[in-house]
Amino acid sequence: MAESWMFREFCPVGVDLGSAEAVEGYDLNQGTDQARDRALLQRLGVGPGVRLIDLACGTGSFVVEAALAGAEAHGVDVSEQMLRYTLRRADAAGVTVALHHAGFLGYRHAGPSADVVTTKSALHQLPDFWKQTALLNIAGYLKPGGLLYIWDVIFTFPPAEYERHLRHFVDAFGRADGFTREDFETHIREEFSTYAWILEGMLDRAGFDIIGSDFPRPTHGELLCRRRHE
Ligand SMILES: C[S@@+](CC[C@H](N)C(=O)[O-])C[C@H]1O[C@@H](n2cnc3c(N)ncnc32)[C@H](O)[C@@H]1O
Repeated sequence: MAESWMFREFCPVGVDLGSAEAVEGYDLNQGTDQARDRALLQRLGVGPGVRLIDLACGTGSFVVEAALAGAEAHGVDVSEQMLRYTLRRADAAGVTVALHHAGFLGYRHAGPSADVVTTKSALHQLPDFWKQTALLNIAGYLKPGGLLYIWDVIFTFPPAEYERHLRHFVDAFGRADGFTREDFETHIREEFSTYAWILEGMLDRAGFDIIGSDFPRPTHGELLCRRRHE
């Protein structure tokens, strides 16, 4: 039974992606970079025989690319609109993606454990307490030795310099013809992006070793982790 104190992940915070129009707009603004997606899938060793779960799959460009690479691909998202878009994209590409209407906290994977779990631009939807719960949940359906890849707005700037870095984040990324300044302001104000050192501590406590990290900007980066054999 769902406890009434559980975080309500079906009511995401921040920028509204709840309508079909918002989802179309998101896909346009986000853009797709097949070459980048393919390069990441290759780095993660994704191909035939690999079971990949993309959490918060959004409009599905990455999970569809995983299916095209031959993987057993699962897309999970709390938004039915996003899942519909992903289904259309998979159909257009002629591949099958298993779609699950669920979130980081509630998703239970039926069937054999995953080899690879990915999540891009989404873990920040959860407050830190619940990020830890989400990571524990992922560890429950990822094989020991399996890979977890996270890309997100993650902060690596010195905490005392936050104002300068957040101003730059809004100034540098907000555009008139894409994600706007207001989108990024909303992100900072209402969503839950956090410091890398907090995520790193959580990953350790959830049973992951961090085997690679890259923070190309002080506000963005990736963490590549391996589930420990415990
Ligand atoms: C910014 S989009 C990122 C989508 C995609 N991963 C990408 O890189 O384009 C965030 C996605 O997270 C989904 N989402 C929000 N909260 C979630 C949760 N608790 N569990 C799963 N998905 C969630 C939203 O519906 C949306 O599709």
